[in-house]
Amino acid sequence: MKKLVVLTGAGISAESGIPTFRDAGGLWEGHRVEEVATPGAWARNPELVLQFYNERRRKLQEVEPNDGHRALVDLESKYQVTVVTQNVDDLHERAGSKNVIHLHGELLKARSSRFEHLVYHWPKDIRLGDFCERGAQLRPHIVWFGEMVPMMEEAARVTSLADILLIVGTSMQVYPAAGLAGYVDFNVPIYYIDPKPSINYELAHADTVRVIPDKASTGVRKIVEELLL
Ligand code: APR
Repeated sequence: MKKLVVLTGAGISAESGIPTFRDAGGLWEGHRVEEVATPGAWARNPELVLQFYNERRRKLQEVEPNDGHRALVDLESKYQVTVVTQNVDDLHERAGSKNVIHLHGELLKARSSRFEHLVYHWPKDIRLGDFCERGAQLRPHIVWFGEMVPMMEEAARVTSLADILLIVGTSMQVYPAAGLAGYVDFNVPIYYIDPKPSINYELAHADTVRVIPDKASTGVRKIVEELLL
């Protein structure tokens, strides 16, 4: 089976009702996302940070995967598919994707703020006073700005072996994730589906990029149908 990697961003979940980060100015109650999603914000105001993610976690439980997520699942009949997502939602898994790498963490998990390996399935609010089994405060299992991206190595390895790369609904602005397109072999076709695509350094230097300026629900289906012919 040929290997196909899909890099997804906030845009694939937009039609499920989860707002993207940069389309609406990226503001939450007057704060820039970059000011809430950082270790510094957690140190200064953990309550605010928890509130931000608690709101997102509650919202996630009200939404459903859309046709973009579902179309990607159909590729598994012909390809060995790995979804590398920057999203912290679980919509790829709920749609049925079997192999999902979360580069930026998972909203439905909490982890110890001191012992990183203590990670828990956590579908409810995280509150100050919720502790890990060793007595340290729990935090969202999210990769904040300025933190290491532990899954990047695996994502880069899988991408370097890909026969086809799909990129869906990401502004390709946030590194290291946005650099993944630079790991594919020279002749690997890259499809970039996004209503407002932004060509970053890696895409500008690839010879095999086809841009599909469309939203995920229709654009992904179209390309999936081509790839399944
Ligand atoms: N279908 C597909 N793409 C869409 C749709 C849609 N219906 N609506 C918007 N988009 C596109 C936008 O054109 C934009 O290119 O989704 C992209 C969203 O970009 P960002 O908001 O920058 O999200 P993303 O690229 O995922 O951000 C990367 O930054 O804030 C951090 O950690 C966070 O994982 C996130 C990372």
